[in-house]
Amino acid sequence: MIDNVIAIDGPAASGKSTIAQKVSETLSIPYISTGNMYRALTWYALQKGLDLNNPDEKAMKDLLATAELTYAKAGDKFEIRLNKQEMGPLIRAPEVTSHVSNLAAMPCVREWMLDKQRSLAKLGLIVMEGRDIGTVIFPGSKNKFFLTASPMVRAKRRLAQSGETTDGSTIESVAREIEERDRIDTTRKTAPLRKADDALLIDSSDMTIEEVVNKIISCVK
Ligand code: CDP
Repeated sequence: MIDNVIAIDGPAASGKSTIAQKVSETLSIPYISTGNMYRALTWYALQKGLDLNNPDEKAMKDLLATAELTYAKAGDKFEIRLNKQEMGPLIRAPEVTSHVSNLAAMPCVREWMLDKQRSLAKLGLIVMEGRDIGTVIFPGSKNKFFLTASPMVRAKRRLAQSGETTDGSTIESVAREIEERDRIDTTRKTAPLRKADDALLIDSSDMTIEEVVNKIISCVK
């Protein structure tokens, strides 16, 4: 049993990042977004001109051989870097968001991430969020949560995050994008998005951020 990883999984725009960050602040422990790792790699692949609408395993493997992904401590937070470049807002760009699920479905990418994500447990007590933390990365974790919210609530939340959607986006168009990403994430063969049997399901549609954070903290064993 692993007791130092608080694993939070769930679909796109379900509020995982906000909640995971608050849990990390409250407990003064590192917060790791594995989505940001996939986003950083997507940013890099797009920079290098890879066609992520038709991703090719060989081209991706060559790219992975040239990519170094690190987390650097910046004050209280951890900053993600790709080949030493700080990612910051680059990885939240709509162009990255619309391609990330295709990249994340590739077995060679998931294999490349596995050890990197597991090795972060050496930081001590951490909160890690993503899609497969409770099922694949740390299946032995005692503290697993699966966060969801209704499609409308999720679309509204994403639309409210400035800079994350293209100009002219509507609730309907954002909802469609989220649905498409969830479809790819849940139906892929390798490490699909699903709730671990022993994860606690939290539907945050009608809950405040504080209520969700308190629930998670009170359940951490
Ligand atoms: O913040 P948002 O809900 O939009 O998603 P994210 O957590 O930043 O993750 C972006 C994408 O990365 C997801 O849609 C997945 O395709 C992929 N991902 C994954 O496959 N496995 C993870 N553990 C985390 C993210």
